[in-house]
Formats: sequence, structure tokens, C-alpha cells
Amino acid sequence: MKYLEMSKAELETELAREKAIYDSFLARKLKLNMARGKPDEDQLDISVNMYSGVPSPISEDGTDCRNYGLLDGITEAKKLFADILEAPAENVIVCGNSSLNLMFDTVARSMIFGSYKGATPWMKQERIKFLCPVPGYDRHFAITETFGIEMINIPMTPEGPDMDLVERYVESDPAVKGIWCVPKYSNPDGYTYSDETVRRFARLRPAADDFRIFWDNAYVVHDLYDDADKLLSIYDEAKAVGNENIFIMFASTSKITFPGSGISAIVSGKENIDFIKSIMTVQTIGYDKMNMLRHVNFLRNIDGVRAHMKRHADILRPKFETVLTAFENELSDLPNTSWTNPKGGYFITLYLDSFCASRTFELCKSAGVTLTNAGATFPYGKDPEDRVLRIAPTFPPVDELKLAVSVLVCSAKIATIEKLLK
Ligand SMILES: Cc1ncc(COP(=O)(O)O)c(C=O)c1O
Repeated sequence: MKYLEMSKAELETELAREKAIYDSFLARKLKLNMARGKPDEDQLDISVNMYSGVPSPISEDGTDCRNYGLLDGITEAKKLFADILEAPAENVIVCGNSSLNLMFDTVARSMIFGSYKGATPWMKQERIKFLCPVPGYDRHFAITETFGIEMINIPMTPEGPDMDLVERYVESDPAVKGIWCVPKYSNPDGYTYSDETVRRFARLRPAADDFRIFWDNAYVVHDLYDDADKLLSIYDEAKAVGNENIFIMFASTSKITFPGSGISAIVSGKENIDFIKSIMTVQTIGYDKMNMLRHVNFLRNIDGVRAHMKRHADILRPKFETVLTAFENELSDLPNTSWTNPKGGYFITLYLDSFCASRTFELCKSAGVTLTNAGATFPYGKDPEDRVLRIAPTFPPVDELKLAVSVLVCSAKIATIEKLLK
């Protein structure tokens, strides 16, 4: 029965029932974790062959990968990322083990040197603002917060960020210098930007000429189902309207091969790429080419990547479905409660009734289930309605996940009934 249709007495009975279930969880002294967006061990195992049989350390263009050289990466790794990210290889720089590091560096570079050759450094400008689609990725927000950049919440929709609002801010306020985007299987909703959204991004005419879109394509090939979401190429769309320096794209193989031991890439228009390289060449002589070689040797090409990602999907699908089935069965009667149903990526978002997320989080924590902090998916850790919980189903084994979700749905029910009874 829907909670909103229950009398006070019925709600009290329901609360007592859920509390008894909760007490039984407490007695089990659980230690479970649904906070970490990490691959599980089986996923890591499917890439171990990368370490066997790299035939030669010499890359396609004759470079000895054991030695210094090639700032922007080996030719075959550039081609691989070009195919994955749908842009020409000459617009790709292949880098080290983390795309987040590249995003941090891109903000730092813009603060210190400006976002293009000859631009005024952001830190010499009076006020700097970033648009932050919410809920979003906490580590993006941590970067902008660390540099003292003011963050403005932009509501997410299943089509992407609210583009009317994005256009209004970007095209009227010269203090707005950037926007964080995770365009495919967004963290944490799992939404993919619609064609219209990508086109509107590509056509932005910012009030600030040093504005850039930070296009974090972290989940570009991370489909769970054959009828995968399709994302338009921002490179093609921006190029078509002569605006290819409006975006800087980031990606990595962190969740293709090994997080922390993969390879990463930047893609952008020629002017941005040349400018980035002009600073990067002072930062480093070059990234780990042996790792690039290992990756290309193992993944081969875009078809190889897709086949490999199907193996990840086979491991992940049952985990996502475990969570979604539990939500469907247990949370459908709760008011103002919904969840996303992504076809890929690493997360599901649970939207509870307002002012129920922190209480649910605390109840889970006391029962030994760790979730991503309530509020973490918002700038400054503040979810104004205290509604959002990010669920990361990938890391725990299915049996642990089932148990953790049972604790979560029980906690969500308790928090919601307590609120209704207030
Ligand atoms: C949206 C998003 N971007 C970037 C990263 C981190 O990427 P990397 O390992 O390449 O630094 C993550 C990891 O969870 C992520 O969710």
C-alpha cells in the first residue's frame, strides 16, 4: 500500500515492522560497501593477459618505447583513442594513468597561464565561476572548490543538463569559465546527453572567450546492454559550426583495463591541443609509452575494445539488476521516491523524499553499510533537498550486494515513515 494512503496507525505499524528488520541487521554486525565506483576482482582479471607477450618495444612509427620521446603518445594509442572518442588522431594527446589528473592540470593551467595562448590567467580575473550539473561527480567539484572557483548548480535531466539555464549563464556572464560534463552514463545518474543537448553545447557562444566545456567521457564504451545509449560526437558537432576549441574532452582506460594503471587522453580543437602541448612539454618529457604499447597490443582496436567491454558488462549487469529489482520491489510505495535505470556506466541514483537522504545514509552506516556520503554529489557537499544517494553496485559480490541493498531499502523506509509521522 502507498505510504501516502496509510493512516497514522498504519504507518506506525509499518515503522515498527521495518525497525524490527533493521535490528536484525544490526545484530549481524555487517561490514558492506556500496560507496566505491570500482571494478571488482573478476573485472580486473579479464585484463591480466595484457602483461603477457608484448612482442616488441618498438611502436608503429619506429619509436623505441623504452626510451624518452613522443610527448603526445605513440601513434597506435592515438588512433585507438581517436576511434573510441570519435575525433581525428591528430587532435588526441595520450597521457598517463589518470584522466582526473588531466582535468586538474587543465584547471591549474587555465588559472596560471590562461585557457589559450595570450589569455588572461583565470587567477588574475576577479571572479571565476563553473557550472556544475547536479547531481554530479564529487571529484570534479573538489577540483573547482580547491582552486576557489565559485560553483553554480545546474539541474540534470534525462536529456543532460538544463540547457536553457546553461545557455543563459554561459552566453551572458563572462565570469563563467567552464562546465563539468559527463556526457555518457553520467556519474551518478547514468544519463546520456541527447543529440539536441550535444548540439546545443557545440553551438555555445560564450560571453567569455576563455570559457571551455570540460567533457569528461569517462564511460564512453561502458555499455551494459546491446541497445546501448548513443552519444553524438562533440568533436564533429563543434567542428561543423567552427567551434572545435569550445570543448576539452578527457577519457581513460581506468574502467576498461586497470584503474590507476591505465592510459588516458585529451581531445580538443587544434588550437587547444597546441596550447596544452606547449605547457605539457615543460611538465614532462613524455608519458608511459610501454603502457600505451601494452594497451594497444591487448585491446587492438575499437572492435577489440567493444568485445572486451562486453565481458565487463556480463559481470556488471547482474549487479545493477540486483539493485534495481530490490528498489522496484521495496520502494515503489514510498512518496516522491525514484531511481535511475542506466544502460551503462558505474552508478545508479536513488532519489528519496526530501530530507530523507542523510537519515538513510546514517541508518545504513550504523548497520555497517557504507554508501557515498549524502550530499557528495553536489558542490560543497550540500544537497539542498537532501534527497540524493549515489549507489555504486560494481565492487561487492552479488550476495553481499543483495544484503547491502536490503539494509538500504529498510533504512529508506524507516527514514521516509519517520518523516511522514513528523
Ligand atoms: C566521471 C568520472 N571521471 C573520471 C573518473 C576518474 O578517472 P581516472 O581514473 O581516469 O582518473 C571517474 C572515476 O570514478 C569518474 O566517475
